[in-house]
Amino acid sequence: MVDSVATPEPQLLKPGIKVPVAETLLTPRFYTTDFDAVAKLDISANETEIRAIVEELRADYNRHHFVRDDEFKQSWDHITGEKRRAFIDFLERSCTSEFSGFLLFKELSRRLKKNNPLLSEAFEYMARDEARHAGFLNKSMADLKVSLDLNFLTKNRTYTFFPPEWVIYTVYLSEKIGYWRYILINQHMQEHPEYQFYPLFRKFESWCQDENRHGDFFKALLQCLSTSRSASTQPKLWKNWQAKLWMRFFLLTVFVTHTITVFERASFYEAIGIHPRKYNNRVIQETNNTSARAFPLILNTNHPEFFWRLEQCSENNLKLAGIQKSNLPRFVKFLQKIPPILAIIWHMLQLYLIKPIDTEATRGTVL
Ligand SMILES: [Fe+2]
Ligand SMILES: [Fe+2]
Repeated sequence: MVDSVATPEPQLLKPGIKVPVAETLLTPRFYTTDFDAVAKLDISANETEIRAIVEELRADYNRHHFVRDDEFKQSWDHITGEKRRAFIDFLERSCTSEFSGFLLFKELSRRLKKNNPLLSEAFEYMARDEARHAGFLNKSMADLKVSLDLNFLTKNRTYTFFPPEWVIYTVYLSEKIGYWRYILINQHMQEHPEYQFYPLFRKFESWCQDENRHGDFFKALLQCLSTSRSASTQPKLWKNWQAKLWMRFFLLTVFVTHTITVFERASFYEAIGIHPRKYNNRVIQETNNTSARAFPLILNTNHPEFFWRLEQCSENNLKLAGIQKSNLPRFVKFLQKIPPILAIIWHMLQLYLIKPIDTEATRGTVL
């Protein structure tokens, strides 16, 4: 059993519509970028691979997959208490992150239509997939009588600006970690069907293939950054030292965020028979290994302090949540929060300084 915070009761915006969870550093972000710079991306170095992926996206293998079959048509009132709250929280987080992908891809598709029709087409298909994913999750939330108003979310969330190369790194990572998150839950459910308390998990096998394809598309874009002959037209070369520092940073932030959110929602994973620590470690190790195919470096997850420090970040985050929930005056809360915040920064810094693994030599041989 891992310590976690009890999930708060969902607040309603209006009947049946949930107030979106407050935006923090840990909630899924909405992104915007320099669309003109993306339109000017020189993809000639990797055009064949990009065309092959667009072909696959066009084939739309999952067009008949996202159907709410008969097993959804029943009452879900028997899911109660912490399990219900934690499940709603899981659905909301997943739905928001899928919807964030939809908004970004849709806008990229629209803005690139004239100057980069191939990329525009790819983004259109990926927006289609993410809309299906977000819609399916939102309908699952509606089964629990608290859906999200996605229009409200579109208008009221903060959009974070990322330059194109950061978008490519972070979306690549979020697609690949999404793949591992879904496939590992699906594999667990196949081995232990007694935990399948809601039919959504059955859908994850084909669903995660969408995420895998999206990730492969971003990997192909990354390779364009690395192999372009006309470096001046690219936002930045990926193999220079700054790019490598950013990749380490994004790998680390994705893994810290994942650890914190898994441990915060430990009750959900326990409810579906998944050991939160084992799940978190496996998702991170697999995502890190997969990234070796795309990045010139990955993190050393075998370092003896690696997972311990990640969990220290989570422990301190739980302390922060406890302080936030207390009835102390704001000023006292502020003072009490300083040590755990400093501890998280310290552990992240120590993690960042662990020597990464150079993947140039193993490219193409590691999954
Ligand atoms: Fe998705
Ligand atoms: Fe995706």
